[in-house]
Amino acid sequence: MRLKAENVFKPGAYPEYTYVSRNYENTGISYELRLKQALRTAGCLTSLIGPSKMGKTILCETVIGFDNIVEVSGADFNNNADFWATVAAKVELPYLGEITTEREMKEGEAKETDSKSERYVLSKDKVIQYYKDHDKVLVIDDFHYASKEMQMIMAQQLKDAIRRELKVVVVSLPHRSDDAIRQNADLSGRLSLINIEAWKKEDLKEIALKGFKQLNIKITDEVADRLAVECLTSPQLMQYICLSICTLLEDKNEDTVNKNILETAYRFTTVNFNYYDVVNVMSKGPNTRGKKRNKYKTVTGRELDLYGLIVESLAKNPPVMELDFDAVYDRIVKLIPEKEGRPDKQSVKTHLNNLHLILKEKEEIYKAIDWKDGKVYILDPLFLFYLRWGRIGE
Ligand SMILES: Nc1ncnc2c1ncn2[C@@H]1O[C@H](COP(=O)(O)OP(=O)(O)OP(=O)(O)O)[C@@H](O)[C@H]1O
Ligand SMILES: [Mg+2]
Repeated sequence: MRLKAENVFKPGAYPEYTYVSRNYENTGISYELRLKQALRTAGCLTSLIGPSKMGKTILCETVIGFDNIVEVSGADFNNNADFWATVAAKVELPYLGEITTEREMKEGEAKETDSKSERYVLSKDKVIQYYKDHDKVLVIDDFHYASKEMQMIMAQQLKDAIRRELKVVVVSLPHRSDDAIRQNADLSGRLSLINIEAWKKEDLKEIALKGFKQLNIKITDEVADRLAVECLTSPQLMQYICLSICTLLEDKNEDTVNKNILETAYRFTTVNFNYYDVVNVMSKGPNTRGKKRNKYKTVTGRELDLYGLIVESLAKNPPVMELDFDAVYDRIVKLIPEKEGRPDKQSVKTHLNNLHLILKEKEEIYKAIDWKDGKVYILDPLFLFYLRWGRIGE
């Protein structure tokens, strides 16, 4: 049976046909092998950390397998959650908490009456034993979603559980509440650390080559290369773009990915992303309370202030996630015709500082760029892609 494009390119799910294995930190061994090794190290907890959408969950699913993986989310653990009850429930074990002894004082009676509950209770040991007997691996995904208090409670419980050889992987974002695990003195010497890095061009390219081959769609190395540059560091973006390409090709009854289809595919892909408000907030900058800002006429005839120019500069070619100040300044200068005069460097820096301050205060999705140590960092590849291709008619 012929494969369908949506089964080959899967931006939001397990990519069975386009799974690409990468090398772990230039060690020559793969991430899969590294995780396998970590899981075989008895008495150790595996801490897997990496930026959003870099394949942390997919890696766990590949190595552990769908029969053995037990996935829980940090979000499942609010402050009232009983850790072991949740872990037991995930494998459908009846766990009813500790034995409770209720003491009641009846009105008018001096006597205390004990009412012991007769409920069947599965101990934590039994839960651990079940996991071991059935080769289950507990993966606590998005650990950072659990509250701070709950993270500490979980760390304590895990310390004891791994000593009894429960296999556990804790997955989290970098610089985010991983303190409960990585900075926990009680766990030191009992951790296998795995850092998931951003994707490189060659590995991204492999996703496209692999997928189109399965679909009998032709693509040259050069075109695959271009796609990989556009995807920045995101395997998910590659899956999205390739799926868009397939939809466009099917519509035209074609079976070759030509250069001239790429831009349409990019624009088509951005309909999946909504950064409209983020771009808006950035281009507007802080509230000036009626004070007029300097505007510059751009080479394309638009009128932009420095905030608008900064946003425009990030979108320029080549797409990169990290720009030092001079590169940003250079891009801004190129946006303005010479006769218009150019902003001074200090002023651009001040505007970058202001932008940094505005975004810092806002919700997660606004944390798309950062400005520190004289560099602009794009934190979210999908955001940069949107900046480049998603703003039609602006
Ligand atoms: N090894 C891979 N080969 C091919 N595609 C991949 C691979 N890893 C990830 N992807 C693509 O990227 C998408 C996101 O991967 P995944 O959900 O594992 O990221 P994550 O790091 O767990 O993200 P989050 O931080 O949001 O939980 C997948 O659905 C898939 O399309
Ligand atoms: Mg994940």
